[in-house]
Amino acid sequence: MTTPSTSPRTIYNTATSLDGYIATTDHSLDWLLSRESDEAGPMDFTEFLAGVGAIVMGANTYQWILDNEGAEPWPYEVPCWVCTHRDFPARTDADIRFTRADIPEVHKAMTAVAAGKNLWVVGGGELAGAFTDHGLLDEIIVSIAPVTLGAGAPLLPRERELRVTEVAGNGEFACVRYEVVRQQH
Ligand SMILES: NC(=O)c1ccc[n+]([C@@H]2O[C@H](COP(=O)([O-])OP(=O)(O)OC[C@H]3O[C@@H](n4cnc5c(N)ncnc54)[C@H](OP(=O)(O)O)[C@@H]3O)[C@@H](O)[C@H]2O)c1
Repeated sequence: MTTPSTSPRTIYNTATSLDGYIATTDHSLDWLLSRESDEAGPMDFTEFLAGVGAIVMGANTYQWILDNEGAEPWPYEVPCWVCTHRDFPARTDADIRFTRADIPEVHKAMTAVAAGKNLWVVGGGELAGAFTDHGLLDEIIVSIAPVTLGAGAPLLPRERELRVTEVAGNGEFACVRYEVVRQQH
């Protein structure tokens, strides 16, 4: 085990099934939301979020939040980029920036506002994969739920070499932090 490098880092942090899906084929997270975890426990999410200065997600992840938590206040305080070609309504209650810009441009804009804090790639997997395509993803943190789904939205549809830097158990989850090994060109 090695200690991860200091900030700022671009980190894909997500929960996943054991067989590598972050949602069912119909975008359900019921298999996840019923699980027990300790928000102040090992590799806890509260501490992770405190180190984040900007976040990015894809259109289906944003739509899931609208569909399932739309009646609640927007859950994040830091600016959020939503990568999409759709015309979502603009909103005034949260700093949400809809974009169809290239990933390097999005990453640059996020870095500028994050003021030295980490960037969180929320998902989905293809978006996280696009960050790795450009060599812009430093770490992957997964909380593995004790379930297999058989099909669904993939965790990371790419072949990538990773290095384990941290392992912990938290409630029902096995949590693992990986460093993304840079490809030699
Ligand atoms: N388990 C967890 O902790 C966790 C975490 C995150 C998400 N989720 C769930 O997992 C599912 C993820 O869905 P998904 O795999 O379809 O991924 P997604 O990234 O949320 O959505 C994919 C869509 O985002 C848009 N998009 C992605 N990259 C883009 C880019 N570079 N430029 C422009 N648009 C881009 C495209 O839509 P358009 O072209 O149509 O706009 C694309 O079809 C959701 O159900 C979400 O709720 C689970």
